[in-house]
Amino acid sequence: MHSDRHIVNLALIGFMGTGKTSVGKIVAEHLHFEFIDTDELIHQRAGRTIAEIFARDGEAAFRQMERKLVEELSTRKKTVISTGGGLPTHPGNLDLLRSHSLVVCLWSSPEKIWERVGHQSHRPLLHDPDPQKKIKDLLAVREPFYKQADVLINTDIRSLREVAVQVVLQFKLATRP
Ligand code: S3P
Repeated sequence: MHSDRHIVNLALIGFMGTGKTSVGKIVAEHLHFEFIDTDELIHQRAGRTIAEIFARDGEAAFRQMERKLVEELSTRKKTVISTGGGLPTHPGNLDLLRSHSLVVCLWSSPEKIWERVGHQSHRPLLHDPDPQKKIKDLLAVREPFYKQADVLINTDIRSLREVAVQVVLQFKLATRP
C-alpha cells in the first residue's frame, strides 16, 4: 500500500450485479462503519430514479451528479461507499476515491452478471436490444478501470457473505497500524 495514502474509508467498485450494495451493507456492519450507496443517494437527492434521470437529463447529467458526490465524499470517515458501475470509469473519480479509501473491486464474468441482472429492469444501460452483448462490451471497456482497484475479488465463486469476509480482511490488512 502506498505510504502517502490515509485510508479511512472503503470503496466498492465493479460492474452492475456484482453485489456491491449487498456486500457493502454486510461489511459496514462488521466494521461498524456507515454505509453509503451512490445510486441511492443520487436517487434520494434528485427525487427521481436513476432510470428517470437517464431518460430525462441523459447519462452525462447523471455522471456529473456522481462526480459531485465523489468530491463531497472525500471528507468522510469510517464509511463504506458502494459505487454505481460506471463511476470509476469517469475521469478523476477513481483517484479521488483512492485518496481516502481502500478501493475493492467485485469482479464477475459477463455470464454471471447476466444471470444476476437479466430479470431486473431498473438499469437504463441494459435497456438494449441485446443486453448480453451490451454487458460484454461495457465490461471490456471498463475492465482496465476496475483492475486499478487495490484488491480484486472474484464473486463468481463466492457467496455474498464470503465476499464480505474477504473485503473485511483486506481492509483490516490495509489499515493495520
Ligand atoms: C451504471 C450502474 C448502475 C447505475 C446506473 C449506471 C453503470 O449502478 O449507477 O444505472 O454505468 O454501470 P449499479 O452498478 O449499482 O447497478
